[in-house]
Amino acid sequence: MIMDGNGRWARKRHLPRVAGHARGVKRVRDIVEFCIARNIRYLTLFAFSTENWKRPVDEVNHLMGLFVTALEAEVNKLCKNGVCLRVIGDLSPFSPRLQALITTAEARTAGNDRLTLTIAANYGGRWDIQQAFVGWLKVQQATGNAAAQQVSPEDIDLGPYLAMAYAPNPDLVIRTGGEQRISNFLLWQSAYAELYFTDTLWPAFDAAEMERALAWYVQRERRFGQVGQPAQAIAR
Ligand code: FPP
Repeated sequence: MIMDGNGRWARKRHLPRVAGHARGVKRVRDIVEFCIARNIRYLTLFAFSTENWKRPVDEVNHLMGLFVTALEAEVNKLCKNGVCLRVIGDLSPFSPRLQALITTAEARTAGNDRLTLTIAANYGGRWDIQQAFVGWLKVQQATGNAAAQQVSPEDIDLGPYLAMAYAPNPDLVIRTGGEQRISNFLLWQSAYAELYFTDTLWPAFDAAEMERALAWYVQRERRFGQVGQPAQAIAR
């Protein structure tokens, strides 16, 4: 889920941009509940990209505050609903408090398996591929396989080293807010994902909008570069 359009949603209502982010958090709650109800097992939210640091410092601080508040307020509920929380991205620039909250939330929810909710924070698809390659290379070096001249492209299996190695590749990528691009989201993992773009701004993306996206998805014929295969039906 590429959650775009918070700022525009707020501007249309003559509200500060941060009001759009606050409403965006409410939508996150709604969509998490929707996924649990509909037995969707993995939901990944692009909450903060590596490029978002370039926003005004007040807005960045506000977004960090929202993450902190959401983590403090929601972890009990996530546990109660069987949600396993994972956060992917380079977390090192985040405040020690936020990093500690993330570690605690991940540990507390680790045993849950109804829905795996991944928050991509300071995440970029290129960063993910780069860090996976470093991980792969380290293993090759440790096992004495590192002679570069012997490596062919197909020998490089980055899958186990990517940030979301614990999850299947996404079936459906949804982007709200009218733009039709991937913006450095799960670049490697989305190779065969169905891409759904809607003009609806994230703070207005409710359960009915999600239904529309799923109805579109189940019509898709998924070929994975081969001959036909119907889209997996999502149970009601
Ligand atoms: C894009 O809207 C949204 C973001 C950069 C932040 C997304 C964050 C949230 C929805 C809230 C926090 C989420 C969690 C998981 C606690 P934009 O600001 O780019 O909107 P615009 O394109 O209209 O300016």
